[in-house]
Amino acid sequence: MAIIYLDNAASTWPKPPGVKEKMAEVIEDFAANPGRGGHALAMKASKTVFRTRVQLSRLFGIQNPNNLFFYLNATQALNQAIKGFLKEGDHVISSSVEHNSVRRPLEYMSKTKQVEVTYVEPRGDQLFHREDFVQAIRPNTRLVAISHASNLTGVILPVAELGEMAKQHGITFLVDASQTAGVLPIHVEEMKIDMLAFPGHKGLYGPQGTGGLYVHGDIDLEPLIHGGTGSQSEAIEQPTTRPDRYESGTVNTVGLAGLLEGVSYVMEKGVEDIGQHEWELVKKTIVGLGKVAGVTVYGPGSETKRVGVVSFNIQGVDASEVSFILDQQYGIATRAGYHCTPLGHQTAGTEQTGAVRASYGIFNTEKDVEILIEAVSEIAAAFR
Ligand SMILES: Cc1ncc(COP(=O)(O)O)c(C=O)c1O
Repeated sequence: MAIIYLDNAASTWPKPPGVKEKMAEVIEDFAANPGRGGHALAMKASKTVFRTRVQLSRLFGIQNPNNLFFYLNATQALNQAIKGFLKEGDHVISSSVEHNSVRRPLEYMSKTKQVEVTYVEPRGDQLFHREDFVQAIRPNTRLVAISHASNLTGVILPVAELGEMAKQHGITFLVDASQTAGVLPIHVEEMKIDMLAFPGHKGLYGPQGTGGLYVHGDIDLEPLIHGGTGSQSEAIEQPTTRPDRYESGTVNTVGLAGLLEGVSYVMEKGVEDIGQHEWELVKKTIVGLGKVAGVTVYGPGSETKRVGVVSFNIQGVDASEVSFILDQQYGIATRAGYHCTPLGHQTAGTEQTGAVRASYGIFNTEKDVEILIEAVSEIAAAFR
């Protein structure tokens, strides 16, 4: 049975042609340590890492590639941004659809540094409105930290508007682009994003173990990790030069070589076209599942654009059981249960049930959607 992979919001699969080959080439030909030696193989490794930095900077409109630091995933990048920026007594504005990788560091800072957090909620239309964020501003608000899109409902937050708002009020703006990097256009200058965290293994089609953080040159974060950088080795203090200040230890050269291929593929296909493709699949899913008796689809309806994520439940059937049957009997890979976002589940009204999540990528087709809808119809009928 061929697998229909609908868990791209967790990690995309399959990867585009060239990713695996490039990673194998590094392992076979030049897996030396980048930035540590001056010999030819180390230089080749360094060049590969730098080229990935440059390509990502092109994608996100980052002027200086050295303001982009590599991490193993979005979670590490978000921890560096949040814990490295916030000071005792600061107030943060966030949203009620945050993933735990934003929420938990914020709650940790709240416990240990008396940081205050306001989670802005969507209105009755299930959308987020700039005015509600403006209302939340206090004299000690130093950071707005939000997801670009929910990993549960795919709802998109008005990032450009919130960037403008943050700038007007002198507040630093952090965006978690885990569900949007490679799917929606992101330009850090135009959208006034001061810090951007992203995974490499989702919409950028790199391997797991890759991700990064952009930090505007005027923002000085306290590094979370201290250690060897291959530079200023005689100094006992962490270097101030970027990216070294925030990249202690050996980076994932093999993974970053794969990420370069993935990002290049995305740029060649065009981010807007990819987003449109996923949106077409989502619309078809919302409309199709909406016609199945006993099925509830979460988030705004098919008239409101969202990223390639659709969460749903079949009345009277546990979400994990639905996902298990889809996997075992139909060869359809979805994710079930709770999606690392208790806030998001409260907002969607699924805190008691969890949900089945189907999420799309470049390689999914309309046929995949039709097979999913047919399978869900059969399961719903069997339990009626
Ligand atoms: C919105 C959001 N933020 C953060 C993350 C964490 O990403 P990573 O697994 O790369 O740390 C995810 C992963 O699903 C996500 O969906």
